[in-house]
Amino acid sequence: MMLGILCLVLAYIAGSFPSGLVIGKTLYHTDPREYGSHNTGATNAYRVFGAAGGLLVLICDVAKGMLGVYLGQVASQMGLGSADTQIYFMIAGGLLAIIGHSCSIFLKFKGGKGVATGLGIILFLAPWETLIVFCVWAVIVALTRIVSLGSIVAAILVPITMYFFNEPLPLTIFGLLAALLVVVRHKDNIIRLLHGKELKVERIKKK
Ligand code: G3P
Repeated sequence: MMLGILCLVLAYIAGSFPSGLVIGKTLYHTDPREYGSHNTGATNAYRVFGAAGGLLVLICDVAKGMLGVYLGQVASQMGLGSADTQIYFMIAGGLLAIIGHSCSIFLKFKGGKGVATGLGIILFLAPWETLIVFCVWAVIVALTRIVSLGSIVAAILVPITMYFFNEPLPLTIFGLLAALLVVVRHKDNIIRLLHGKELKVERIKKK
């Protein structure tokens, strides 16, 4: 029982790991929060560090989401639940990871926008919906070069596709909550989009 609770706490701590900041400071001696959109996610990492840095941050953030779901699964096997309730714990683990990513214990409860970590979670829990949503995201980004627009549309599509795929209600509710979180975390992007001032995904020159 205690080990199960520990797994859920670990899901939050894993989500809290500030990948972009750690990779930026250790490999590039640069804080990504000082440039571009000031975000620590993969998009801004690409702007500041280039393709390799962006990809590394993306992989770490996706892995955090998958790890959160896995830790939820382990939690249910550690005396917290049964085979019937395992899915609830997996969803809880994912939710804790995405909350950790956005409200990180290591960043004074600030953090990223939840897109890559959310991708890791739905890749684990709803792979077919992920494929559809990823394709839509890729088309939008290819046409506009604006990642935030693709991310917002993709996030909104997650609960909608889950509904049409007849996923269990708790998973669809998770999709809805995660979409809300992602949209709210894109508040500044939405303002920039409305004013036609959103940053594109392109390399920037550092000071
Ligand atoms: O995943 C975050 C992305 O949707 C937007 O990133 O750096 O343009 O705010 P950014």
